[in-house]
Amino acid sequence: MSNLLQNYARFDLEFVKGEGATLFSKDGREFIDFASGIGVVSLGHGNLEFGKAISEQVGKLVHVSNLYQNSLQEKLASEISKLAGFPLYSFFANSGAEANEGAIKIARKYGKGERFEIISLKDSFHGRTLGSLSATGQEFLQTDFKPMLEGFKYVEKISEIAEAVSENTVAVMIELIRGEGGVEALRKEEVLELAKFLKSRDILLIVDEVQSGVFRTGKFLASNHFGIEPDIITLAKGIGNGFPIGVVATKLENGFSAGDHGSTFGGNYLATSSALKTLEILQREEKKVLENIELFSKELEKSFGKERLTGLGLMRGVKLDSDVLEFVKRCHSQNLLTLKSGNNTLRFLPPLLISEKEIKSGFEKIKNCLKG
Ligand SMILES: Cc1ncc(COP(=O)(O)O)c(C=O)c1O
Repeated sequence: MSNLLQNYARFDLEFVKGEGATLFSKDGREFIDFASGIGVVSLGHGNLEFGKAISEQVGKLVHVSNLYQNSLQEKLASEISKLAGFPLYSFFANSGAEANEGAIKIARKYGKGERFEIISLKDSFHGRTLGSLSATGQEFLQTDFKPMLEGFKYVEKISEIAEAVSENTVAVMIELIRGEGGVEALRKEEVLELAKFLKSRDILLIVDEVQSGVFRTGKFLASNHFGIEPDIITLAKGIGNGFPIGVVATKLENGFSAGDHGSTFGGNYLATSSALKTLEILQREEKKVLENIELFSKELEKSFGKERLTGLGLMRGVKLDSDVLEFVKRCHSQNLLTLKSGNNTLRFLPPLLISEKEIKSGFEKIKNCLKG
């Protein structure tokens, strides 16, 4: 009997060690990892440079609370702003959902109690806490936990947002590439048009980059591909290489005042040093990430054909006619980890620093899976 709550439908697999994009299972098998812990372990497993940096930090200082100055937080906030390419002011949380909670609070504060409504998209995913779940446009995830928070509205498409806006609307929250909803990327023109419209109505644009951010698409932010400077972005997953950290970053210098928001653990020395080291390595290895994107794309096209592919960079999907979960299990039998997204999409989120050999080996396994 397990004493764990059974909220996860886990596969019968356990891993004991990892090196790069290779994972070793408890039963002695060697897997290629095209999932990176759902887009988290961007540097790959067992990265010694990362390990050394955070071990040193553990030996020095892990946590003293947000009652005191923290120069690592200052440095990380400045790095995020520099990498985004426009001025951003950051708050550090511990997960993607929590980062989105921060975004919702900043938006509500901006609305001064007069405007509070946030519009998001159907099939979006913004997290499991009640605020982020209220923003998530997937009824089946909400059903057992109603009532959701007041003031959320969902539309099918970007083009429906203008009509859905009311005098209460303070923000629109979107993913540029829907991570859990089929890895569909929005079209650049419609996003640019939306950004312009929202600006003209003084409505904030919140872009959830929890999955798409931190070089996952080849640029620091997916927003950089779309040529937009959102009022608020959220990050998590890939920024700490597995150490939990969430970020809400906003152009609003006074998005929060003292006492508005907080977190006991948020941005502690261990979390911020993990993120700083991850960003340092990813910037140094940018060329390698871009080469990986090119090779991975080519292999995907060879295996599945261009028409079935979705997504951007190393956040890719393939529309399958057959059952996706069954295909993921077939990959397991070939010692390969892949992911499901939405109902009919096979998803790939490999470590950004995966080796050429691991990419090729993974696609050999895909070939075997496709043979059935
Ligand atoms: C786009 C997006 N937002 C938010 C979240 C929630 O992040 P977390 O699980 O860290 O709370 C996720 C997680 O999958 C996500 O993909």
